[in-house]
Amino acid sequence: MSKPLLRNSPNMAFSGQAAHVPVLLNEVIEMLEIREDGVYIDATVGLGGHSSAILGRLGSHGALIGIDRDEEALTYAANKLGTDKVYLRQGRFSEIGEVLQDLRIERADGVLFDLGVSMLQLKKHERGFSFMSDARLDMRMDSSQKLSAWNVVNRYLEKDLQRVLQEFGEEPLFRKIAKRIVISRKSGPINTCAELADIVLQAYGGRGKTHPATRTFQAIRIEVNRELDELRNGLTSALGVLKAGGRLCVISYHSLEDRIVKNLLRDWGKEGLIKVLTKKPMTPGREEVLRNSASRSAKLRGGEKL
Ligand SMILES: C[S@@+](CC[C@H](N)C(=O)[O-])C[C@H]1O[C@@H](n2cnc3c(N)ncnc32)[C@H](O)[C@@H]1O
Repeated sequence: MSKPLLRNSPNMAFSGQAAHVPVLLNEVIEMLEIREDGVYIDATVGLGGHSSAILGRLGSHGALIGIDRDEEALTYAANKLGTDKVYLRQGRFSEIGEVLQDLRIERADGVLFDLGVSMLQLKKHERGFSFMSDARLDMRMDSSQKLSAWNVVNRYLEKDLQRVLQEFGEEPLFRKIAKRIVISRKSGPINTCAELADIVLQAYGGRGKTHPATRTFQAIRIEVNRELDELRNGLTSALGVLKAGGRLCVISYHSLEDRIVKNLLRDWGKEGLIKVLTKKPMTPGREEVLRNSASRSAKLRGGEKL
């Protein structure tokens, strides 16, 4: 269940040095068609980039509800967004319904999902998301959760590792990498991100333009955070809380996410639950990609509740 957030906690571990630029910001703001007195949910508030722009367009009767499963991100967002018209909750976005109930708000005018990980999670090496770090394998968005990347890598059966790598990483060498992981851990646990990245590198016999561990790390992260189930449930919950005419905007960063978003919106469109606003996804222009390379794979899709 979602937890209200303690604001302005002294435990502010991230001061924003890793400059955060919200992705497809103008497109999101335009698609949300923000009304001054509306209720908007940022289901992935992160470092508050999109939230801040939404908040700036609200009048005194509007409200912004920000959800994130990462307590550290919320602490950062709380300091950035302040308290006026802002309600921040720690929890999973599949719990949007409960969050609204808790706030005694019935419906929302818009819901935004900006999927994946934040700069804070990626750049803070001790969070164990980046294959370029010597940190312990972790990858939990919610640090109070039990399952971490370390458990997946060191405890999963070979066949389950294969499944994760194939399904969530679309990794062609899923068998070879799973085997190497199992062989390596016989002589002691695989503790760090760098150790795992090295095992994948060896399976590939070297690296090309993209580090070959990218897919393995994506796969394990998705498994640890149950990201695809969360996405299906989160979008369904969002549809449930939207007012007629309310808008749903989703930014995804890889094909597995985008497929889920595209198919759900298409199905809901056919069922007459929404009007699909994006026949084709919106993507960042050349300038945005040059300014912010993290935006390069972003796809924005949206729908209007009927
Ligand atoms: C790309 S960042 C969002 C950045 C944000 N739009 C901004 O401009 O600062 C994604 C955020 O979503 C959060 N997140 C991912 N999956 C979630 C879920 N199922 N429930 C709640 N938060 C989630 C992550 O913890 C992360 O902070």
